[in-house]
Amino acid sequence: MRDPQEEKERLLMPPMDTLSRVNHYGFGGRKKIDARFRALVAGGGTGDSLVWLAEQLRDCGGQVTYLEPSSASSKVARARAEARGLTNITYVNATIGEFAATVPEKFDYINCAGVLHHLEVPEQGLHDLVSVLANDGCIGTMLYGEHGRLAVTEWRKMVAPLLPGKTLDEQLAMTRSLLSMLPEGNMLLKMGGGPGFIKGLLENDPEIVDLLLHPVECAYDVHGVYDFAASAGLDVAAFTGFFGFGGTGKAHYSIENHVADPKILRDLTALPLRDQQAFCERYSCAMPLHAFYLTRSDAKRAAGTTTMPDRDLCPWFFVAPSDGFFDDMLTNAGKPIILADGTGNAVDLTGGPDLARLLALFDGKTSFGDISARLRDEILHKQPIDMNQIADNTLAAVWALFHKFDWMLASSSESGWQQQDGQRRLSVNLPK
Ligand SMILES: C[S@@+](CC[C@H](N)C(=O)[O-])C[C@H]1O[C@@H](n2cnc3c(N)ncnc32)[C@H](O)[C@@H]1O
Repeated sequence: MRDPQEEKERLLMPPMDTLSRVNHYGFGGRKKIDARFRALVAGGGTGDSLVWLAEQLRDCGGQVTYLEPSSASSKVARARAEARGLTNITYVNATIGEFAATVPEKFDYINCAGVLHHLEVPEQGLHDLVSVLANDGCIGTMLYGEHGRLAVTEWRKMVAPLLPGKTLDEQLAMTRSLLSMLPEGNMLLKMGGGPGFIKGLLENDPEIVDLLLHPVECAYDVHGVYDFAASAGLDVAAFTGFFGFGGTGKAHYSIENHVADPKILRDLTALPLRDQQAFCERYSCAMPLHAFYLTRSDAKRAAGTTTMPDRDLCPWFFVAPSDGFFDDMLTNAGKPIILADGTGNAVDLTGGPDLARLLALFDGKTSFGDISARLRDEILHKQPIDMNQIADNTLAAVWALFHKFDWMLASSSESGWQQQDGQRRLSVNLPK
C-alpha cells in the first residue's frame, strides 16, 4: 500500500539501507561510495528500499538495479521513483534465479528484505544472490523470526486444512470472519500489541493476505539465521534495524538490555555470541523478524562493536547531538544524566567538561589513534599511571557506550560517507 503522490511529502528511510550504516557494518567503514557503487534491490516490491538507496546515491552517481517479478509492484515502485525524478535506476522484471542466470555485473550492496523466506528453496535464492555479489560486498536482508512469529505460524497451521479448493477471495472472507471474533487469548493479539492491530488488519485486505494467507513462507530463529548464512559461505556481520522493529534493532540482541542480574549476565557473557543472541530471542519472545548484514566469511567484519575499531578509523555521530547537547552536558557536570535518542534508547552516565571535550573530537576527521593521544595528553595527563592504556580503555568505553544504539559509527576519513540518521537526535535529559 504505497501511494506515489506521497513521495512529494515524505521520504521513507528503511534503517537497514542507510549507506553509512552499511559501510560501517559491511565494509569495516572503508568503502568509498561514489559513481562506481552498484546496489541491487532484489524483490524490491513497491519500492521502499529502492527509493531510499537511489536517493542516497543520486548525488555521487551510484546506480541501483531494481529486480522484481511482479509487474503490479514494479509499477508502483517506478511511479514513486519517477515522482522524485530519480534517474539512477535500472528496472528488471525477473526473479532472483532468472537474473543471476544472466551473469550480470557484480553488486557492492544487495538489499533483499522479506523475500527469501517466501521462496520454495531459500538457500538457492541466497546462493544466487552471492553469485552476483562483489568480493568485498555486503547483503542486507530480512527474514521472518520463528519465535516472534509463532502466532502466525500457528494460525497458518490452523487454517491449512480449510484453504484447499477456495479462491483467494473466499480464503480472505473466511479469515476476516475468524479475525472479527478472535478469542481474547489468541496469540495474534499479543503479537500485534492488542485489539487495535486486529482492527487495522480488518481494514486492510493486502495486509491480511500478506500476514496470514501467503502460500509459501518459513521462519528462522537466531541459530537458523547463522546456519542459513553459512550455507552460502557468509557470516552474519551484524543484526540491524527494520521498519517497525526499532531503528537500531541490534539492541534487541544484546544480553545487557534484557538481563540485569550480574551472576546470570556473567554466565551469559561466557557463551558464544550467537548463543547470547539466541537467548535474547527466546527471552524476549518479541522478534517477529531478523534484519541483518551478511558478508563473505573471509571478509573483514564490522568496524568495531564493543571493542575500539582500528586506530586509523574516525568515529562520528551517526545520530546528531541536539543543539544544546554540549551545553547541557557542561551545565550538568557531575550529575547523573540520561542520554536519549527519542526512540526509547537511552544510557545513564555522569557528564562533565572532560566527556564533552572528548566527544567533540568525534568529528569524523580525527582518528581513534589521534583521539587516544589527545585524551592521554590533554584530558587524563594529571593521572600518575600508564596513560596510553588508560586513554585506550577510556576511549573504548566511551565508544562502546555511543555505539550501542548506533549513535556513533566509524569510517575511514577518505571514505567520506558519513551521512547521519535523519530520524533521531541525541539529547541530554535529567532523571525524573
Ligand atoms: C514481502 S515483499 C517485500 C518487498 C520489499 N523487499 C520490501 O521490503 O518492501 C516480497 C517481494 O518479493 C517478490 N518476489 C517473490 N519471489 C521472488 C523471486 N523469486 N525473486 C525476486 N523477487 C521475488 C515479490 O513479488 C514481492 O514483491
